[in-house]
Amino acid sequence: MRILVTGANGHLGRRLLGRLADDHEVVAVVRSPKALKILSGFRCQSLIVDYADGDALAVAARDCDCAVHLVGIIKETDKNTYKQAHELPCAALALAAEKAGLKQIVALSILGSNAESANGCLASRGVSENILLQGPVPVTILRVPMVLGENDFASRSLREKAKSRIAFTFRAASIEQPIYAADLVSAICALVENPVEDKVLELAGPESLSRRQLIKRVGQMIGRQPLVLSLPVAFGKWLGRVFEIVMSSPPVTEDLIDLLDHDDDIDALAVADKLGIELTSLEVMLTRVI
Ligand SMILES: NC(=O)c1ccc[n+]([C@@H]2O[C@H](COP(=O)([O-])OP(=O)(O)OC[C@H]3O[C@@H](n4cnc5c(N)ncnc54)[C@H](OP(=O)(O)O)[C@@H]3O)[C@@H](O)[C@H]2O)c1
Repeated sequence: MRILVTGANGHLGRRLLGRLADDHEVVAVVRSPKALKILSGFRCQSLIVDYADGDALAVAARDCDCAVHLVGIIKETDKNTYKQAHELPCAALALAAEKAGLKQIVALSILGSNAESANGCLASRGVSENILLQGPVPVTILRVPMVLGENDFASRSLREKAKSRIAFTFRAASIEQPIYAADLVSAICALVENPVEDKVLELAGPESLSRRQLIKRVGQMIGRQPLVLSLPVAFGKWLGRVFEIVMSSPPVTEDLIDLLDHDDDIDALAVADKLGIELTSLEVMLTRVI
């Protein structure tokens, strides 16, 4: 098969390229020369494309069977809005997929996405999912929670928290259900190779636990016993608002704190079975990424 991958330079994109290239021809699209350089060692054809330009995307997608759409953000800034990162690329991809005659689109999204959500990111994701789903090319949206992979930001920050004597976190009782990055890549490959009827699938790791338990579990693995102190989410949102007022690229925003507060607790095994993949246990996942 020939597969178009958007957002190919991202954390998941690079992992996916490595896997897809074993069995398929891959056309990897990015939006900057810097991103193109990151892909220089990968076995794929790589191109710079404006993700808002449906015609340019259609040219990139020529002769492809399927597109995997990985473009997305969890923190909006003045220079990179949700609309630029979600709605516009999805509208362009829907158009490009039709023009290029793709048979399928697989798009990654986030658990909790809903066009009616009060959270700006989840609402924008929901609208973008609808844009793809209303197009003529069959789409499977794969919604996932926090992804943990080797050397990624989420795993490093979890380790840093667990190393501290006192680990501060917003609402330590919030429920996490991390999925191993390699499992997610397997799920995407399974969907590409064996399309399913489902328009939306929700997948996560095999275990849900509170953020406090997760930090303590990592602490145990590295021989630490962090005291996890829970901060009110309202304080985090206030802090985010202040950052947004004084900085053009804030480290956190009100919306991001709210997004991270989402409780993730789904039946992941049924979807994993349907895709024919095995989910890595939390214990093994943490051993590999921490
Ligand atoms: N990693 C996770 O924990 C997680 C969890 C749930 C869902 N997801 C979703 O899965 C997808 C892939 O995740 P990832 O971890 O690989 O993300 P990532 O490393 O942040 O990569 C995101 C990609 O989106 C591109 N992008 C950002 N803003 C854009 C814009 N305005 N226009 C066009 N492209 C833009 C980035 O390009 P540049 O590099 O040029 O900015 C990059 O190629 C994303 O949609 C993400 O939200 C990830």
